[in-house]
Amino acid sequence: MKKSLIVMGALLIMSSIFAVSCGGNSSSSAASADGPTIGVTIYRYDDNFMSFYRRNIESRINGKANLIINDSQNNQAQQNDQVDVMIQKDAKALAINLVDPQAAQTIIDKAKAKNIPVIFFNKQPSAQAMASYDKTWYVGTTPEESGDMQGKIVVDTWKANPTWDRNGDGIIQYVLLKGEPGHPDAEARTSHVTLYITNNGLQVERLEPEQTAMWDTAKAKDIVDAWMQKHGDKIEYIFCNNDAMALGALQSVQALGYNKEGDTTKYIPIVGVDAIPEMINEIKKGTVAGSVLNDPVGQSQALVDITLNAAAGKDPLDGTTWTLDEVKAVRVPYVPITKNNVNVAEEAYK
Ligand code: GAL
Ligand code: CA
Repeated sequence: MKKSLIVMGALLIMSSIFAVSCGGNSSSSAASADGPTIGVTIYRYDDNFMSFYRRNIESRINGKANLIINDSQNNQAQQNDQVDVMIQKDAKALAINLVDPQAAQTIIDKAKAKNIPVIFFNKQPSAQAMASYDKTWYVGTTPEESGDMQGKIVVDTWKANPTWDRNGDGIIQYVLLKGEPGHPDAEARTSHVTLYITNNGLQVERLEPEQTAMWDTAKAKDIVDAWMQKHGDKIEYIFCNNDAMALGALQSVQALGYNKEGDTTKYIPIVGVDAIPEMINEIKKGTVAGSVLNDPVGQSQALVDITLNAAAGKDPLDGTTWTLDEVKAVRVPYVPITKNNVNVAEEAYK
């Protein structure tokens, strides 16, 4: 009797252990992945380029961590609240696409108080903010490089197409659409495109002060509509800090009969940055001059590698081939894209 009670008791204990361990396994594989909780914010889900970046982050992190990912809806206060919630939910690392590049310190202070690593991406914080916490890193590009490469596309295409100098004065009459003012990419692209052109022996004339279209297609179209009304085909080139705005510029000139596929007589060259699929299509059709590949695959891979390492308390570069510069940044290279090498961009956005 006593013996059988002991056996029964032992069986009960064993079966309950079994149930607990089974339940534990099934719940972790169903709802969330094994692995640490990672908090990611995107400054705005409806930013064209960032939507590709986000998809790449999600697919790379899939199964390796429990991902909390939020749309900050272009509102820094909202992003700060999202970070608070991620910290409450025991995030082991944060990957932050700031709304306002100036807000890095606020986020760093929150994370540092709990000893949580923070990896910024796409909008580079100041060197001072980066230096204030040993567990913060940045994944991005060298913004000046995109302006220089855009300048190179302008120089090469201009030299190859003498009819683009419509007034025959040897000078490129241009207008420029700027991204978000104060964004390191927007500032560097704006200054470097013309710097590269003039350093390479061509002259430029700015027909209008730069205007910001905040990376946005519809805003870009409105601005170019007004510029076209004022200057018409006196505009000999349209430089755009990104492709979403270049596509808006294209809509504007096409509505006036320019840049129709196959017609090179009524043509105002347009150049962008990102090489997103919609722009690749236009490059192939010859309706725009080119773009600069802002590689979402390379950048998201670096971001996920570093974030997972940091979350596990490892060296951020552990098991990777990335390198950090003096401000703890990984910089993924840009690539100039024209009709001749459009396949490079297609590969990156597959
Ligand atoms: C840039 C990109 C833009 C926009 C911006 C958002 O790198 O070229 O299209 O996505 O980031 O911060
Ligand atoms: Ca000219």
